[in-house]
Formats: sequence, C-alpha cells, structure tokens
Amino acid sequence: MSEITIGLGNNDVKTRLDADSNFIGFWEKQAKNLSWFSSWEKTLDWNPPFAKWFVGGKINASYNALDIHQKDKSDKPAILWEGENGESKILTYKDMWVQVQKLANVLKSLGVQKGDRVTIYLPMIPELPISMLACARIGATHTVIFSGFSASAIKDRIDDSKSKVVITADGGYRRGSVISLKEIIDEAIKDSKSVKNVIVVERTKTKIKMSSKDLFWNALLDNASDICPPEKLDSTHPLFILYTSGTTGKPKGVLHGTGGYLTHLHSTFKWAFDIKDSDVYFCTADIGWVTGHSYVVYAPLLHGATQVMYEGAPDFPDASRMWNILHKYKVTIFYTTPTALRMFMRFGDDIPNSFDLSSLRLLGSVGEPINPEVWKWYFKIIGKEKCPIIDTWWQTETGGMLISALPGLETIPLKPGSGTRPIPGLQISVVDDDGKDVSANTKGYLVIKNPWPGMLLTLWGDDKKYRDVYWSKYKDCYYPGDYALKDSDGYLWLLGRADDVLKVAGHRIGTAELESCIVSHPDVAESAVCGIPDQLKGEVIIVFAVLKQNTTLDVKTLEKELITKIRNDIGAIATPKEIYFVTKLPKTRSGKIMRRLLKAISSNETIGDVSTLEDGAAVSEIQSTLEELKKSIKLRSEF
Ligand code: WTA
Repeated sequence: MSEITIGLGNNDVKTRLDADSNFIGFWEKQAKNLSWFSSWEKTLDWNPPFAKWFVGGKINASYNALDIHQKDKSDKPAILWEGENGESKILTYKDMWVQVQKLANVLKSLGVQKGDRVTIYLPMIPELPISMLACARIGATHTVIFSGFSASAIKDRIDDSKSKVVITADGGYRRGSVISLKEIIDEAIKDSKSVKNVIVVERTKTKIKMSSKDLFWNALLDNASDICPPEKLDSTHPLFILYTSGTTGKPKGVLHGTGGYLTHLHSTFKWAFDIKDSDVYFCTADIGWVTGHSYVVYAPLLHGATQVMYEGAPDFPDASRMWNILHKYKVTIFYTTPTALRMFMRFGDDIPNSFDLSSLRLLGSVGEPINPEVWKWYFKIIGKEKCPIIDTWWQTETGGMLISALPGLETIPLKPGSGTRPIPGLQISVVDDDGKDVSANTKGYLVIKNPWPGMLLTLWGDDKKYRDVYWSKYKDCYYPGDYALKDSDGYLWLLGRADDVLKVAGHRIGTAELESCIVSHPDVAESAVCGIPDQLKGEVIIVFAVLKQNTTLDVKTLEKELITKIRNDIGAIATPKEIYFVTKLPKTRSGKIMRRLLKAISSNETIGDVSTLEDGAAVSEIQSTLEELKKSIKLRSEF
C-alpha cells in the first residue's frame, strides 16, 4: 500500500485533541460558527439511540444559507448553472434570497405550514435548491425525490410523507431527450388524498395537461412578495425526509433535523475542502441523493461559496463535457463518484489532457469504494499530482462525512483507496460478529460508538425500525451495514456493504425492494436478487426468478415484462443486468436465501462451505442452469 503525502499545510492538532477529550464540548464550539436566533440550553440530549443536538436553540437553515451573506456577498455568484443543452445562468446570493422568499410566500399562500411536507421532483435546475430553501424558510419539511424514480416509487413516497404540495417541472433533459416529469407526477398523485397543489416549473416547454390543482411557478412567483422572514425553528425541527433503500421491502424515510445537521455540514465542508472565498466548487451529485442535499445545497451555501451546478449527463453530448465544464468555470474543487471516474478513465487520457485543468487544487470521491487504480488515475491525469484526493465515507443516515482525509484541518499521508481517519469527535471501530475489535488488517464490520451532530433523528414514522436497523446488531453502537478494515497505521479501508443493500453506479438499491417487485408479477413464485462486481458501475444487479408451475409465457416475454415492471415500479436505475430463471434457490436450513452464494455463482467465484444448505442439489442445479442460461440470456442494462 503506497503512500502519497500531500496536504495543504494545515495542521490543527488542537482540534483533534479537543474533540477526543470532550466531543460534546467540541461540537458545541463548532455550532457557534452558525447564526442562531437564540442559543441552546443543552448541547446533547442522548437517550440512545435518539440524539437531540443543541436542544432549545432556535435556528433557520435558509437564513444561514442566504441571509447571512447579504451584507458582503449579495452580488457573489452562488450558482453557476450549466444546462445540458449549453444554456447557462448565474444566480447570485441576492438572486437566491429573493427567489427563496418569493416561493416561501407562495407556499404559505397555498396553506403550507410549519411541519407540513412538500415533495420536490425536479431536474438539476436552480429551482430545486430554491424549493428546498423555501421549505426550510417556513419550517416545511422537504422530501426530494430523484428525478429518475418512477410514478409508482413516487406515489409510495408521497403517500408515506403525506405531502401537501408537489413541486415539479414540465420536463427534464437527459441525454438530449425530454423526460415528462409532470406526466409522471400526474400518474403518481392520481389517487392522492394529501396533495392539494402541484407547482410546475417550465423547463422544457413541453406541452402538458394542467388541472385545477396545477399552478405555474413563474405566474406564482411574479405575484409574490420577496419579503418572508425566516421561521425561528427548534434545532431539532425536521428539515427533510430523504427516502433510501435498506434491507426491508419498503424504502425508509431518513429524517434529519436542523441545528445538528447544519453544524456537521459547516464543519466537514471546511475541514474536507478547506473552502476559501475565491474557490469555485463543483460537486457532480444529483440533489435527489444525499450528497446533493448536503454538499451541493446546504454546505456550500452555509459558507457563501460559489459552485457550478450541471443539469445533465456527464458524457453528453460527448466524453469531454466534464473537463469542458471544469475548464470553462475554472473549477478549483471537484467532488465526484468512482463510477463517473471509471467512465471517464475508459474514454482515455487524451480527452482530459486536452483541457487546461490547472485551476484544480483539491479532488474528492464519494458513494462507493474507489479502487486504487482509479484513485491513481484521478490523482495523475486530473489532479496532475498536485491535488490531494479526499475519499469521503458517509451515508444518507449520517447526514455528512464521517471518514475522510481533512486537508483543511490537517496534513495526512494519503493511501490510494483508503478513507484515512474518522472526523474529529467520532469513535469508530471495526468489529467481528460478537462486537469485539478485530486485529489490524482484518475485515470486519464498521461501527460508530458515539453520536454525532449530523445523525438522523429517526426513520419517518417508525422509531422501532430505526432502532432495529441501526442499533440492534451491537449494543449502543450505530451499525451502518458496511465492511471495513483498519490497517496497522490505523487507516480505515471501506470494503462495501455487508448487508443486502446494493450500490449500483453509486445508487443505493435494496434487494428486498426489488424482490418484492419481481414476485408481484403473476408468473413469478420466488425471487432472489444480488449484486456482482462490475468494472464500470461498481456493482450490477442479477435477478434469479423461480416461475410458477403453470406459467405459459416464454422466457423472452417474461424477461421483457419483468424489466418493464422494475422500471415502472422503481425506476431505470434498478434495471438488472441479467435475469436467470431457475427451478430452486439455495437456502439455509432456516429458509433464508443465500444471496452470497448466488453472488459467487454469478461472478464465477468458487463456492465455499455449502453444508448448511437445505438441499445441496440446488447449488449444482443452479450452476448447470446458469451455464445454459448465460449463453442465451444477456440483458444489458440501459441506464
Ligand atoms: C457506500 C452516499 C466506500 C457505503 C454518501 C455506505 C462508500 C453507502 C463511500 C451509503 C466511500 C459511501 N467508500 N463506500 N467513500 N461513501 N459509500 O446513503 O456502502 O447513498 O454505506 O450515501 O455508500 O450510501 P448513501
């Protein structure tokens, strides 16, 4: 494991020491970097597993993102927006502030009150952060849904959150074609009891049907006042729900609060990116996922940073698009995913080499393990061996980064592929099944031993599930569901999911959710889903389906139907790479499907001990079925 020592000259040893000796006092100090309407009475109310940070303090996220910058940064660009079709737009901190207040007044006039939920289903356009901040301003809880999700997935989320208003667009551009977002929303809310109004941004000027509850964004904002004082909200007031996939059939609504979450983001953004007033920051994440919430919307705005926001696909209209954007806007900090990097790497070095990328000073990676070869390519070809790379590990549930090199705080030798160390104030261990620390260089489960300010409040409407999913495997420890190892220098290496959650192109997909979709097809009796390694997407989906005995449909038709069903019920991101029809699935004696075995079989790995199988024959049967099927069934994923 080679080391690369590169830092930015900062070495704030005191911060680490403070955090290690008293993490509560340490976070209290960090919270003072934000603007509070009134201070808290208690820094942490820890009633495991429920943490309340800065109890009694009053704060507002949109005030901290916008109002505080109006004195000296009102003309500074907040967003340098680049449309997929080449359009561009600059929104200053003043522009954002005005728009947010107007929309906040519109929401109020539609009857949205503090505590109500608003669903946002928009492409990567400035109206998306504006909508989130307008909700935050009046204390409405936003729930953003990634614009690649299907009507049925949206319906589940809207019904669960009981949203009063939906904000969407007529359409969104993706690789030059238009996705009819409004039509998808119409379908999703056709039986909704909670949705009273739909606000429609005109992005593509596509012809759409408008009903009595539908209202156009522009018409509403034109007539709205641009003065809307921020609500003084409790620190623990729910800022947003973000649905994410887990090990159960239904997506979980991860609920985040305000004061703790913002404190976490403010601190980690400063430590990880060493953000300066002159920086041009660009994070490629879609705001529909947590990275977009935390490190596109809230963290950069809290710091009054200038950032690039890009609407479309990273390789559209061609493979040079990303480097073109970095060059055009003289980006200094670039934060992207291993999947995107693997794709860029495949296009070759000549394309990035033909652009002037000398403005870059810091690079980041997020969402999945980054393989050392890709890390080195990123370091050499994009960073020209002068930019530190931070590999940031965290989750929707953690709110912000928990493991990362922090060049804005300290200099640390980097090891390609390692996340390095936890952020200050956090105790992380790697343990075995019994919760005992494993020795150095041994794979185990990652656990977090103390609360942190960005942690989720709970799962929306389901405290029990929150406790069961994250806090029941190990006593008083948060279990994120990841494998990791600590090397002999104390560096952490994140080794992927230890549970039944897949990471396809960095997107989180639950196997149980997919399986329940597949078995709801009338011809399928049973199904098992697993992920296998893929050179581009990190992991791809393989489906095993056992058909009902009286099925008359042929396999080709069934494949097509299942793919359509998955796309309709969940979305294109869950499209499997291959579907295998088998007669039996390998199970433990207690009847649990052995996904690990299926994974090994489909990735051509050797199979270990199968003595616990209910019926050893099923394995060889699957193996021979696979051999046959692999030849004829090759369904390519198309997203
Ligand atoms: C994985 C994304 C390795 C991990 C921010 C985690 C990573 C899941 C890294 C959360 C990383 C995220 N290295 N694995 N740097 N970052 N992961 O909720 O398995 O979409 O549990 O949040 O992504 O995914 P989520």
